[in-house]
Amino acid sequence: MESLKRTERAVIVTGSSSGIGKDLCRVLVKKGYKVFGSVRSKNDAGALSKELGSGFEPLIMDVTIESQVLKARNQVEKCLEGRQLWALINNAGVATLGPVEHIPTSEFVTQIDTKILGTFLCTKTFLPLLGTNKKLKGPAGRIVNISSILGGKIGSPFMSAYCASKHAVEAFSESLRRELKPYGIKVIIVAPGSISTPIWNALKNHIGSMSFSDTEYHVPFNKVLKSLEQFDKNSLPIEQLSKVILKSIETKNPKIRYTPTNAYSQKIWPYVPKKLMDQFF
Ligand SMILES: NC(=O)c1ccc[n+]([C@@H]2O[C@H](COP(=O)([O-])OP(=O)(O)OC[C@H]3O[C@@H](n4cnc5c(N)ncnc54)[C@H](OP(=O)(O)O)[C@@H]3O)[C@@H](O)[C@H]2O)c1
Repeated sequence: MESLKRTERAVIVTGSSSGIGKDLCRVLVKKGYKVFGSVRSKNDAGALSKELGSGFEPLIMDVTIESQVLKARNQVEKCLEGRQLWALINNAGVATLGPVEHIPTSEFVTQIDTKILGTFLCTKTFLPLLGTNKKLKGPAGRIVNISSILGGKIGSPFMSAYCASKHAVEAFSESLRRELKPYGIKVIIVAPGSISTPIWNALKNHIGSMSFSDTEYHVPFNKVLKSLEQFDKNSLPIEQLSKVILKSIETKNPKIRYTPTNAYSQKIWPYVPKKLMDQFF
């Protein structure tokens, strides 16, 4: 474990083994940050350390297991040597799709736990390092919670677990933003539109194992799947999202909610009257 150089700002990114988290780690390391990226396997830890070099340090933790998050906090604290963290990016997440009647309960629990329990545990555990411990040196840190441009604001059919988890993250972020004002710790939501990452592939492979093809859900479900494929084709390049996240931790006055997307109409969907919106499903 290398300790922090005087000039380095340290950031934690959860879920750094792939997709958005991985690209963000790459960008942050390139910018000279010390990056602590959470992974769940030693293999991912080794591969990422090799790829990103000494600016990257893996934290092996499942964000839903408190003892692992606490262990990671000790590792980070040692490395910071009395200084504060610059930012915590709560990015780890999964995507579950399917009719409520057919989603295995364990999958619903995993969806909610990963996003909301994970965001709660990481926030709670790392808050002292972000500035609530006044003995540490440095400016107040920031917390960036990754939501979803639509999932965080509107409910889509067959995405109840995903949307519930993202709505919860948005409410959690708003409470926290107000709660942390006395410490000057800013809480920011980054709610992207579609980004092409492995999250959707894993989902498609998995759906094959659910059986409801002989039910009324079949046709509308396939419609939703098609629209997701369309979103995937119209994805925002991942580097553009990383730039937005970077801006959210560097700019003096960050927005409350960033909504980077390639599909600008998505920005107004949350404001469409609900009954009118129902016609589209
Ligand atoms: N891609 C999009 O279109 C999109 C749009 C809006 C929002 N988002 C959000 O962006 C975030 C990142 O998604 P992504 O698209 O980059 O997906 P991804 O490539 O599948 O990455 C998800 C990351 O989360 C990690 N993770 C999952 N469960 C975890 C747990 N219990 N503890 C620790 N890490 C865990 C995964 O680690 P393992 O490799 O160990 O599984 C992986 O590193 C998610 O919150 C997602 O909802 C994505």
